[in-house]
Amino acid sequence: MMTGKKILINKNMRLSSNQIVKNMVSTKLFLRDQFIQPVFIKEGETSSSRISGLGKNKSLCKDDILKQFENDINKGCRNFILFIIPEKKSDEIFDKSFSNEILLLIKNEFKDEIQLWVDLCICSRTRSGHCCLYKDKKIDFELSLKVMSELALSYVESGADGIAPSSMLKGVVSKIRSTLDLNNFNQVPIMSYSTKFASNFYGPFREAADSTPQFGDRSDYQLDFKSRSEAIDSSIRYANEGADLLMVKPGLLSLDLIKPIIEKTKKQVGAYQVSGEYASLIQLAKDNLINYEKALLETWFTLKRAGAQFIITYAARNAKELGFDK
Ligand code: PBG
Repeated sequence: MMTGKKILINKNMRLSSNQIVKNMVSTKLFLRDQFIQPVFIKEGETSSSRISGLGKNKSLCKDDILKQFENDINKGCRNFILFIIPEKKSDEIFDKSFSNEILLLIKNEFKDEIQLWVDLCICSRTRSGHCCLYKDKKIDFELSLKVMSELALSYVESGADGIAPSSMLKGVVSKIRSTLDLNNFNQVPIMSYSTKFASNFYGPFREAADSTPQFGDRSDYQLDFKSRSEAIDSSIRYANEGADLLMVKPGLLSLDLIKPIIEKTKKQVGAYQVSGEYASLIQLAKDNLINYEKALLETWFTLKRAGAQFIITYAARNAKELGFDK
């Protein structure tokens, strides 16, 4: 079993393109590069602002971006996922100029010092706040997949090292994969949000990403947390569509699913410690009810114990201070 898995993964050139990704997928040690730091960037702002609930995490304005990355890199963090929040909303055409500008800015400065994933969802871009486009109250699959794959291509052309489709739309991974391959980006990995619940724990994020649905909820495309088999099938589907890495979300609330997904797909599975999960630690610490650092480490080791290969967490930039020297 184990050998089979290793060979499969080693064969995957997309996951050995640089040392950061190699560390991220290393099965030998629990390394700092296995933590991914989310970064929010908002168009049209003149100053960065606090995100309520998320401690020192900020929604960045353009002028503060390079400084933030420099600070994070100096702290030992070099694996990032970017959320780009445009100023104008639309329900058909998505302006790529801001995202292109931001990605070029970051990658021209830091080049291969960082691994830069870009979250590919349109919920910050649509007027509806939904992760896909609707036509007559129904999801318009064809159009949604088209705009998403075009966005993915534009991100990669501007320097994104990896794409993380979070929309949970059927077909999104295969559409992005074929679009990237057709344009000679077959080395760019896709990290799929493959088991993502319509969760109650995304509150602080939605405020930061300005992505609260304006009608209904996300149950048309996100999973019902009551169903285990659907949750596992979803990851299997995205693995079959060609995802290089899989993910469960919310992480701590999906511990039971990590091992079965690994067994069924033979792919590596990460966990997203989502905003609500992280904010609850911050709040408990504020109320002097827990020791923040110790509790945070407990959650990380618990995710690892459950089989998470990598962890997206709002405190990735603090991993070194918390004891991850390598
Ligand atoms: C976009 C997206 C969400 C999160 C990551 N990407 C919100 C959602 O699906 O509503 C949540 C992350 C978090 O809460 O930290 N679709």
